[in-house]
Amino acid sequence: MAQLWGGRFTKETDQLVYNFNASISFDQKFYKEDMEGSMAHVKMLAAVGILTEDERDQILEGLQGILADVESGKLEITSEYEDIHSFVEANLIDRIGDAGKKLHTGRSRNDQVALDMKLYTRKEIENLKGLVKELLQVLHQLMKEHIDTFMPGFTHLQKAQPITLAHHFGAYMEMFKRDYSRLCDIYDRMNYCPLGSGALAGTTYPLDREMTAQLLGFAGPTLNSMDSVSDRDYVIELLSAMSTIMMHLSRFSEEIIIWNSNEYRFVELDDAYSTGSSIMPQKKNPDIAELVRGKTGRVYGALMQMLTTMKGIPLAYNKDMQEDKEFTFDAIDTVKGCLALFTGMIKTMTVNKKAMEQSAKNGFTNATDAADYLVGKGVPFRDAHGIVGQLVLYCIEKNISLDDMTLEEYQKISPVFEEDIYEAISLETCVEKRETIGAPSHSSMEQVIAINEEYLKTL
Ligand code: ARG
Repeated sequence: MAQLWGGRFTKETDQLVYNFNASISFDQKFYKEDMEGSMAHVKMLAAVGILTEDERDQILEGLQGILADVESGKLEITSEYEDIHSFVEANLIDRIGDAGKKLHTGRSRNDQVALDMKLYTRKEIENLKGLVKELLQVLHQLMKEHIDTFMPGFTHLQKAQPITLAHHFGAYMEMFKRDYSRLCDIYDRMNYCPLGSGALAGTTYPLDREMTAQLLGFAGPTLNSMDSVSDRDYVIELLSAMSTIMMHLSRFSEEIIIWNSNEYRFVELDDAYSTGSSIMPQKKNPDIAELVRGKTGRVYGALMQMLTTMKGIPLAYNKDMQEDKEFTFDAIDTVKGCLALFTGMIKTMTVNKKAMEQSAKNGFTNATDAADYLVGKGVPFRDAHGIVGQLVLYCIEKNISLDDMTLEEYQKISPVFEEDIYEAISLETCVEKRETIGAPSHSSMEQVIAINEEYLKTL
């Protein structure tokens, strides 16, 4: 049990206490960030004259050696150390002797761990942004391909009005664009360096906090040392943004599961993204979509855990905050996995245009347009609504669609109908007449696709 703080203790820590307290099993995930932070700290200590250049170089070389050995597998991070910070410092002293004992000058594990967590999550925000970007690119491509693929739009999961698949994908495009911008916002807000805040009240050394902030790519140093060591807002914000990403992926997954079902057959998932049944030979299941939907709970759980962990903590650092890691790491890995798989799944699925179009035709999705037709001929909307209601009832009884009715049948219900009703309620007309920005017509979708094309260039 190698501990950094044994001096004032007369007894060994109880083994159970040691295990309960230790974080090495999970904070080893940011070994690299820990050493990067230490390197910046050491460079700064030398620049302000606290370390000699020789000491600085010895420490930097030592840290680089440890990093290389960990990466190559030559040096294993083991549970004999309490946390990653102890592991690095103990190994450094083993390697370079007395100079290593100066690494922690003007630093506490409180500002160190605050820095490590920021460096780690900041890197992961960039990875998440990359994955959301790939999803946006695939959606953009699909929108371009399906600008004229008609399908029913739903409300209450009942067929409502005809739209196109491009329009449907476009809704998700907007959601994931917002997700992307949320990740950017979090990055900008969190990007201030806590190093130099010490345990809680800064240090008595003349540290150059601007320098370490700059070396580590931050916009500047944080402005309150108490807040710096106890702020985990950015973890909560990231978990919240990731929960929203999962909510979007989950809604989309649910639709794909429905569309891929035997009843709908709007899409067919690629064999590479489907699984079979151990007993039913005919089965091809959408397990990936179901898992993405299922894993959403896991990410929401991490958000709730973190909000709850933080809510009663007095200033400044308290050990509760060590609980910021495991669920957050798991949530990040989960969201990254879901984004990558989901993107692959929709990229490879095939769209059954015929089934979608047939479904739009069969479900009275043009009923609103039939009513609008009558309004165009001078019938008040409420009366038109009633007349079309009668048409629908008639069709349901005869098991036909509005397009299948003869003009005589139309005119029996209302003499206002003329030959041009067929044109007025065709799928093409229903979609093409909706041409305000944001609506599904070919021309408005082209406008949106052009805007998205420019937007994607800025990412
Ligand atoms: N493992 C600790 C954490 O993750 C590091 C900070 C320890 N600080 C302390 N005062 N005990 O929060």
